[in-house]
Amino acid sequence: MVLPLFLIAGLLLGVNSIRVGNAETFLLNPNYQVEYFTEPIDHMNRDSGFINIKALIMNGSPSGPVFVYTGGNHPIEYEFQGAGFITEYLQLELNATVIFIEHRYYGDSVPSEEDYQYLTTSQALYDFADILDQVVPSNTTAVIAFGSVYSGMLAAFMRIKYPHIIDGAIASSAPLLAQLDTQGTGFSRVVSYDYSMSNVNQLCHIWITDGFNILSNLISRPTLYTALEDTFHTCQSLNDMGDIVQLQDWLTSIIKSIALYNFPYVSNVYGPLPPWPVNVACQLLQKYNMAPVNQWSTLQGMYEVANLYLNYTGRATCFDIYNVFEEGQPWMYQQCTELMMPMGQYGPIKTASNPLGGNDMFPVRPWSTAQFIQMCQSVFGVTPKPSWISVNYGMSANVNETLQYASNIVFSYGQLDPFKYSCIQDEINPQTTVFYIRNATTAVDLRTPSPNDPQTLMYARNHEEILISQWIAAKASSTA
Ligand SMILES: *[C@@H]1O[C@H](CO)[C@@H](O)[C@H](O)[C@H]1NC(C)=O
Ligand SMILES: *[C@@H]1O[C@H](CO)[C@@H](O)[C@H](O)[C@H]1NC(C)=O
Ligand SMILES: *[C@@H]1O[C@H](CO)[C@@H](O)[C@H](O)[C@H]1NC(C)=O
Ligand SMILES: *[C@@H]1O[C@H](CO)[C@@H](O)[C@H](O)[C@H]1NC(C)=O
Ligand SMILES: *[C@@H]1O[C@H](CO)[C@@H](O)[C@H](O)[C@H]1NC(C)=O
Repeated sequence: MVLPLFLIAGLLLGVNSIRVGNAETFLLNPNYQVEYFTEPIDHMNRDSGFINIKALIMNGSPSGPVFVYTGGNHPIEYEFQGAGFITEYLQLELNATVIFIEHRYYGDSVPSEEDYQYLTTSQALYDFADILDQVVPSNTTAVIAFGSVYSGMLAAFMRIKYPHIIDGAIASSAPLLAQLDTQGTGFSRVVSYDYSMSNVNQLCHIWITDGFNILSNLISRPTLYTALEDTFHTCQSLNDMGDIVQLQDWLTSIIKSIALYNFPYVSNVYGPLPPWPVNVACQLLQKYNMAPVNQWSTLQGMYEVANLYLNYTGRATCFDIYNVFEEGQPWMYQQCTELMMPMGQYGPIKTASNPLGGNDMFPVRPWSTAQFIQMCQSVFGVTPKPSWISVNYGMSANVNETLQYASNIVFSYGQLDPFKYSCIQDEINPQTTVFYIRNATTAVDLRTPSPNDPQTLMYARNHEEILISQWIAAKASSTA
């Protein structure tokens, strides 16, 4: 058998993974270099095969700490752009070496065969640990993990599973308890709250509900479908009920995205958005819901919200309502195995057949675990295991007990954060810290500090820095 050269090198060095390829400069920030690490595809059973894991690395002071961003369900460049607090502030303050490690099966870190059986959190955490083994300069170096949303879950898991490698973790907007919301009410409820809290008009969420109701009523009026095509500038012609339902779901995803990216400054995640875009959306809705109002002006307001989110260049000729942002297959697989995260919509009205009505402003789309399981079985041949995260990581209804030995973890979440009801909100024990950030959306604490940030956000960042410094100092004194 002829072994590939890198494998021989790995055997000779007695290590599990090795750096491969030439470092190239990372376009978004030339202080960072791109490196690939070859990891076994299977750390657990030792099945053969390898996967190249991408990382963005900036070498700081050899005596400084290492900050590791535990990549989640996105290309690592996307995570990098949402982590300016680390790259533009903390790194400089603490002379840290920073490494953003991509999660296996995402971005450029995909295996040669798309066989999802090796896509598990345990394998991903082992990739991180194995790569850190090569990057961390000495056993006196403090290593701090960071992440937001799913990658924030991984940052917390790293500290819980590998406390000998990770000295502390910042888990921002990490939906660690999502599986406990068995009807998936949380996300839609917070988004509706965000629009109702807009400082423009308390009726903002009502106008949105009105718009969805008008669309529901128009389902039975096919002669008006052409007028809807004109109002919403759809690329498709609207032909049947399914198209109108799709129009509602497309608008829903836009309204939810605007809440996720409700930052205090101009941002550019999937396209430029103005500061506080929820307020801007509500201003547009207000304009078209002033008397004299009719159903077409209310719908025009809904169109304007879509236009705000999708047409920043002013060059969109039409809107493809079937092009809804989807997370993609690997993330679907992860939800179908270890990370089931129910998401449902129940609308504003409670009825006998819709007992959770009153939860949110959206068209009714209840979560069904049975349907989800069926989908997982037919698409991937797997069955979700909702207890996995509780048994394996202690993320249970009793986190106070199951995580009683956890320490040096910050769990942060925002008042306006759609993930907030899935986040750990009570301090588990005195060794962990919860930051509730008023007037803040998802994971905004990890983003680049801005003069427009609310006071509470500045406070949270300051205290995160203080805790990180304490973890670093504790490591130094324990290894001195
Ligand atoms: C970081 O490095 C600079 C220059 O090498 C040094 O002046 C500063 O004290 C260091 N800061 C910390 C927190 O170690
Ligand atoms: C740290 O590394 C030094 C030098 O390699 C070694 O002597 C020491 O035992 C190590 N300490 C721990 C706690 O592993
Ligand atoms: C958040 O801050 C912005 C800007 O200061 C303000 O317009 C808005 O009303 C605040 N929202 C909440 C919910 O406090
Ligand atoms: C995008 O904006 C331009 C300029 O305001 C407008 O003419 C165009 O109709 C918009 N596109 C869509 C799909 O609404
Ligand atoms: C967990 O402990 C904290 C105090 O550390 C307490 O405030 C909270 O209510 C407890 N939660 C539960 C579910 O017991």
